[in-house]
Amino acid sequence: MSNLVQFIESKHALYLEQLQDFLRIPSISTDPERKGDVLRCAEWVVAHCKDIGLENVQIFPTKGHPVVYAEHLHAGKDAPTVLFYGHYDVQPVDPLHLWTNPPFEPTVRDGKVYARGAVDDKGQVFMQLKSLEAHLKTHGKLPVNVKVLIEGEEEIGSVNLEEFLRTNARMLAADTVLISDTAMFADEVPSLCYGLRGMAYMEMTVTGPNRDLHSGVFGGAVANPANALASIIAKLTDDYGRITIPGFYDDVKALSAEERAEYARLPFDEAAYCKELNIPATDGEFGYNTLEKTSARPTLDVNGIWGGFTGEGAKTVLPGKASAKVSMRLVPNQDPVDIAKKFEAHVRRIAPPTVTVEVTYLHGGKPAVTAIDSKGVKAALRAMETAFGKKPFLTREGGSIPIVLLFQNILNAPVVLMGMGLNTENLHSPDEHFTLKNFYRGIVASALFYEELLK
Ligand code: BES
Ligand code: MN
Ligand code: MN
Repeated sequence: MSNLVQFIESKHALYLEQLQDFLRIPSISTDPERKGDVLRCAEWVVAHCKDIGLENVQIFPTKGHPVVYAEHLHAGKDAPTVLFYGHYDVQPVDPLHLWTNPPFEPTVRDGKVYARGAVDDKGQVFMQLKSLEAHLKTHGKLPVNVKVLIEGEEEIGSVNLEEFLRTNARMLAADTVLISDTAMFADEVPSLCYGLRGMAYMEMTVTGPNRDLHSGVFGGAVANPANALASIIAKLTDDYGRITIPGFYDDVKALSAEERAEYARLPFDEAAYCKELNIPATDGEFGYNTLEKTSARPTLDVNGIWGGFTGEGAKTVLPGKASAKVSMRLVPNQDPVDIAKKFEAHVRRIAPPTVTVEVTYLHGGKPAVTAIDSKGVKAALRAMETAFGKKPFLTREGGSIPIVLLFQNILNAPVVLMGMGLNTENLHSPDEHFTLKNFYRGIVASALFYEELLK
């Protein structure tokens, strides 16, 4: 083990350089203009997997972006098999002007690497690949059998991965699935994640008159779609922060007294949280604390809203259309398709009769809670404790990784969510970064994980 740690330490500079190459590729999965870059990124992952000594490295086309697969299966039939999953695609970069440095020109400042994808998820994927390389370069073998699956559509809901899992279930069969795409509770407070929220992502368009109108000539008699959209959105939640869609909470599993006691044990400082975000106070559902509200309770958020004139200055116009993108974070046992239907029915019910609305379901994913007593989770807890010098907490998180539940259901394999990110590292926003000491300790923790799994 100390061999491994020394080896990793001697490679810090090289690893950082290689990670920056990975981060330079603008693999934005949602942007059709970046399709070529996304493919180039998959090819980069393929080349790197070959480089570090993985075998049977393949790129699988899908209806969308390709999946990369690799393996190293020489630990013997009795050794467990781990499937590592991550994603090489990233979120869009806008608003671009808020970045200190361009998002695809990675820069290092104050011990952090800044770039789109630094922590979500290229940095963490790379950390995992380096942990495999460290074993292969120091011992010429891995302690367990390892399969690697790195996809390019996580940020758009992993729309084609379910079919890939079903068709290739044999190839992907594993005893444990390892994912590094979550955050630790806080810096120097290591944790493992055992729950993620699901998601139903909707878009709605309100249509009024057949064209944009002069707001003085027509305003007053013709319904304004932007006003109508705002009133629909305002009605989706009440004064207690509850979502008003009928049946929305029907399948929500209540938090048990034990779970709430566990939440209360976590070292959380509400005032510091508000200060870091520069908000006067927290918001949300009455009767729950901030950690519960951001991980174990469902939510509804507008992600974007547009219509009419949004340029500088003033233009008097009554727009013909207005739209919004709305996501709902779901918790066990809510079902995204069921929630999407309830959303649509409710929006139609509350929309003013003077406009028409169109609602589309863009994508969804089921919430997941993973077993906390699996061999994998126990091994990860020990590995994190050694690498970070502290006993990790077990936490649930508010983000979503749509494929987690399907790993459990299709491959029948327990999932370990061992992430090294921090929720303050601006994932999905300008100046995304990854703290390098956590990146390096993450390589050590992951390398140890494979050894701990044999104990
Ligand atoms: N890595 C995140 C999910 C995440 C973030 C989990 C922080 C825990 C803590 C993932 O890449 C992500 O952003 N997922 C999307 C899923 C969506 C597009 C279906 C999300 O949560 O918005
Ligand atoms: Mn991610
Ligand atoms: Mn993400």
